[in-house]
Amino acid sequence: MRALILVIAGWDPAPWERRFRAAAPGRDIRLWPDRVGDPADIAYAAAWLPPRGAFSPFKNLRAIFSLGAGVDALLKDRALPPVPVVRVVDPDLTQRMTEYVALHVLMHHRRQRLYDAQQRQRVWREHAQPAAHEVHVGIMGLGILGRDAAEILLRLGFRVAGWSRTPHALPGVECFHGPDGLDAFLARSEILVCLLPHTPATEGILNRSLLRKLKRDGALGGAYLVNAGRGMLQVDADILTALDEGTLAGATLDVFPTEPLPAASPLWTHPKVTITPHNSAASVPEEVVAYIVKQIERFEAGQPFENVIDRASGY
Ligand code: NDP
Ligand code: OXD
Repeated sequence: MRALILVIAGWDPAPWERRFRAAAPGRDIRLWPDRVGDPADIAYAAAWLPPRGAFSPFKNLRAIFSLGAGVDALLKDRALPPVPVVRVVDPDLTQRMTEYVALHVLMHHRRQRLYDAQQRQRVWREHAQPAAHEVHVGIMGLGILGRDAAEILLRLGFRVAGWSRTPHALPGVECFHGPDGLDAFLARSEILVCLLPHTPATEGILNRSLLRKLKRDGALGGAYLVNAGRGMLQVDADILTALDEGTLAGATLDVFPTEPLPAASPLWTHPKVTITPHNSAASVPEEVVAYIVKQIERFEAGQPFENVIDRASGY
């Protein structure tokens, strides 16, 4: 039986190991770095934030499974063996992300931060409330997550647009793509939701110059950012400047270039910032393990892996 190794940093590997043992009882499960055994036995690796070079000893490796949807940490490894890298596509994770996007788009739309502040002051004051159909939401990334979020936002009544690398046609969504489509997409977006992967092409994309192109004269009277993609997409100093100069009226940030967000970061206490600890769509071991076990079974039955990333594009 081909062995599977878990290469996990930053998370507790124990629940993952328990789930793999339960879901694939006959499989030889190893744990990096203490229970690797003979590296030649390893056919599959399931990884989260693996250290560089971790896979090099596994000469018979057939595939690497990311335990999350993002594969940027895996692709940083220049010694990554040339085997398929399979990412997680899981309805549970997608649902969680869509909940997060809906929650924070509605929070900005319904001015909940303002009402929270009023509550602390015992102030009873109503503010003008635009209808959802007057508000323009723009989603960067029309992949598995962006498309699902777009559907729900449309259902809530928002005017939704999306921006992707290649052209898309989605019912009810105004679709833009590529560098040439970016400015027009930004110019019509009041709430910008970022669900992009971190690649060389997207690193630092959420910078001051981009934020200045957002629509500030729409129904909301200002522009808002929700970033749940990756921290390396955003330039924290530029977001702070944008908030202070009024380019942004508010921001929800789930991800940061350095995680955990350092205690000294001014983002923690900024009155216009909402912070969550990279939990917008946590991977649930049961669901992800079932998916990986299914992928291995498919492969061993002669079928190709699903959701193999394109290394050239970086996602
Ligand atoms: P997908 O690969 O399905 O979609 C990625 C989307 O980004 C695609 O629409 C793609 O365009 C677009 N894109 C990629 N590069 C560019 C570019 N240079 N310019 C414009 N568009 C680009 O990924 P998912 O939707 O599953 O996930 C997106 C990201 O969300 C993950 O990579 C991960 O970083 C993040 N994530 C964060 C989580 C969290 O807890 N905060 C949880 C899960 C994921 P095209 O359609 O043309 O290929
Ligand atoms: C992921 C994540 O990529 O948790 O799945 O960020």
